Amino acid sequence: MNQLNQFKEANILITGGLGFIGSNLARRLVNEGAHVTLVDSLIPEYGGNLFNIQGFEDKVTVNISDVRDPHSMRYLIQDQHYLFNLAGQTSHMDSMQDPFTDMEINCHAQLSILEACRKYNPEIKIVFASTRQIYGKPDYLPVDEKHPVRPVDVNSINKLAGEWYHILYHNIYGIKTSVLRLTNTYGPGMRVKDARQIFLGIWIRLLLENKPFEVWEGQQLRDFTYVDDTVKAFLMAAMNEAVNGKVFNLGGELPIKLKDLAELLIDVNGVGQYVLKTYPADRKKIDIGDYYADYEYIKRSLGWEPTIPLKEGLARTVDYYRKNLIKYL
Ligand SMILES: NC(=O)c1ccc[n+]([C@@H]2O[C@H](COP(=O)([O-])OP(=O)(O)OC[C@H]3O[C@@H](n4cnc5c(N)ncnc54)[C@H](O)[C@@H]3O)[C@@H](O)[C@H]2O)c1
Repeated sequence: MNQLNQFKEANILITGGLGFIGSNLARRLVNEGAHVTLVDSLIPEYGGNLFNIQGFEDKVTVNISDVRDPHSMRYLIQDQHYLFNLAGQTSHMDSMQDPFTDMEINCHAQLSILEACRKYNPEIKIVFASTRQIYGKPDYLPVDEKHPVRPVDVNSINKLAGEWYHILYHNIYGIKTSVLRLTNTYGPGMRVKDARQIFLGIWIRLLLENKPFEVWEGQQLRDFTYVDDTVKAFLMAAMNEAVNGKVFNLGGELPIKLKDLAELLIDVNGVGQYVLKTYPADRKKIDIGDYYADYEYIKRSLGWEPTIPLKEGLARTVDYYRKNLIKYL
């Protein structure tokens, strides 16, 4: 990451920039001297929060608009050197209850963003945030990029379309795009109001409110990436021309059973309780069971690997919400 001065004075657009990962990325880029514009719709059910940019709000341009609006996107895309494309509807359950909204944001709008780039800024470099959910229930572990994709919900089908539009626009039109398939990402700025973004959010909220949180089944293996590591992967992918048109898994330190994660979280907080429950029937249908990623490909290609140990990442996160929980409720 020595060549970060590549971003100095660069014009950067982050869709979903008031959200969890987008705002952490924005902070880092502002520190590198970039001119950063954030576009976010701030739909209350999603992860956008103005508090996420507290302390550097006067160093970014915030545009409250919707990526579904092609006129906004056409205007915003022009003169940008980089687009970090993170806006998304992230709830798997919401995508089942309201599949068309998910399709409009995660699928239709993605195509329209790419069309705007093709027509008005074909030199732009784009890094797209995809998800490990597209693999569905793994056939083998750890899951590498060659694993079949078998989406288990509407959200993952639309995210898959979103990522493939990006790859297609590279292959056909030469637009410089790279795709990262994120696993569970956590850290300061994530949505903790409910479990729409990640179950760990509601666990942390309840823990800090001295209420027991629910762990469903508890035996599932999962991996977790601390947000600073995720941000690093976005920057590395943006800087490297050799990864244009490529798709990479991100991963975590070591896979952990959810029950052990619950205990680690309580240990980090010093106090807390959880209750084991069976999976609610509607969620069980879209659960993927055990998952953890093989991230060798991005390690080989870019030298990326997760560096923040889970315990430390959880400690930083809990500490952040101990101070700021009220801003996220
Ligand atoms: N956090 C994770 O564990 C995780 C895992 C896999 C993939 N991802 C992907 O990473 C990206 C960022 O996720 P995040 O965790 O920061 O979630 P987030 O909800 O905090 O961020 C997404 C942002 O997009 C904004 N947004 C949603 N619809 C929009 C629209 N129509 N127009 C403009 N803005 C809109 C939201 O307001 C929010 O600020 C998403 O695309 C998500 O699918 C995240």
